[in-house]
Amino acid sequence: MKYQKILITGGAGFIGSHLAEFFLKKKCQVTIVDNLSTGQWANIQHLENNESFSAVISCVTDEKLMDDLVREHDIVYHLASAVGVKLIMEKPIDTINTIFQTTDTMIKKCSRYRKPFIFTSTSEVYGKLDKEMFSEDSDVLLGCAEKHRWAYAATKAVDEFLILGYHSQTNLPVYITRLFNTVGPRQTGQYGMVLPNFVERALRNETIQVFGNGEQTRCFCSVYDVVRALAQFPLSPEAIGKVVNIGSQQEISIKNLALKVIEKTGSSSQIELVPYSKVYGAGFDDILKRVPDLTRAQNLLQWSPEYSLDAIIEQVIEDKKIAKTP
Ligand SMILES: NC(=O)c1ccc[n+]([C@@H]2O[C@H](COP(=O)([O-])OP(=O)(O)OC[C@H]3O[C@@H](n4cnc5c(N)ncnc54)[C@H](O)[C@@H]3O)[C@@H](O)[C@H]2O)c1
Repeated sequence: MKYQKILITGGAGFIGSHLAEFFLKKKCQVTIVDNLSTGQWANIQHLENNESFSAVISCVTDEKLMDDLVREHDIVYHLASAVGVKLIMEKPIDTINTIFQTTDTMIKKCSRYRKPFIFTSTSEVYGKLDKEMFSEDSDVLLGCAEKHRWAYAATKAVDEFLILGYHSQTNLPVYITRLFNTVGPRQTGQYGMVLPNFVERALRNETIQVFGNGEQTRCFCSVYDVVRALAQFPLSPEAIGKVVNIGSQQEISIKNLALKVIEKTGSSSQIELVPYSKVYGAGFDDILKRVPDLTRAQNLLQWSPEYSLDAIIEQVIEDKKIAKTP
């Protein structure tokens, strides 16, 4: 690999733990920093005895610690963030502060020591845009500030502006990816993520709640594909200072996703349609469709997703079955 010492914030989280594993397999040295707020020690416990791996359990806003860590590493992947609609609706203050302050700290340190910086933004940034496909240079349409749901997207969008500001003002090599729904082993359903939630309920033969009329569609991309894309960014000079969508284009309605999970688990679960207002209060905006334009990912990173939705669902089911086994 071009870079040997990799620092990953949010590395005990779902995507971060897979990214750490990926680089360890490539014989890199990996340090993760995580405060275990939504991440879990169990996600990285199996790496503990690897002498190329270090875990620092701390907050990314610890200036002194991050100064030392950034200086000692070759490249920074900044994944630490508050994640999940449920968390955002319940804790808007923490969400906004975490997303902005962690990015502000990390980009400042990267600028000081001239370290390449990779940032995981989100497809939420496109907001309520009504388009067949979302392209990185399209305008965005966020909902109003009175709806907490948009706090996540708005703050990630500010982070994007800040990071691109460092690039244009100081020439720092920065890379931004807008991830669309990413799924796979180790993702928890605890914060409102749909696929692990459905699988956990199906395995317990419990009712699966589908919000709205269930006709809203999403494209689910394997975490293994996403990690491969993340690793490719710093090897692609044309991607410096760019925003690149990463996700799948295989669309499925949420109701059909629930049916697929029930079929694949052989579950006796029933589906219950629940109005958004009952879950998130009145005036919750959902997005009906969210498909990434992957032209940039293909041209700049030579990347496209490889895992099918069926394969991904089967991997998640296997993972949840193991987690259930005492
Ligand atoms: N999973 C998805 O579908 C998806 C989609 C779009 C964007 N993303 C982005 O990808 C990144 C990783 O998401 P994930 O799905 O792995 O979520 P995750 O919650 O599993 O990972 C985030 C990690 O950040 C840690 N963290 C939060 N605040 C911290 C702080 N102040 N200091 C140190 N650690 C802190 C959490 O403990 C957690 O381990 C996030 O930036 C998220 O916004 C994810």
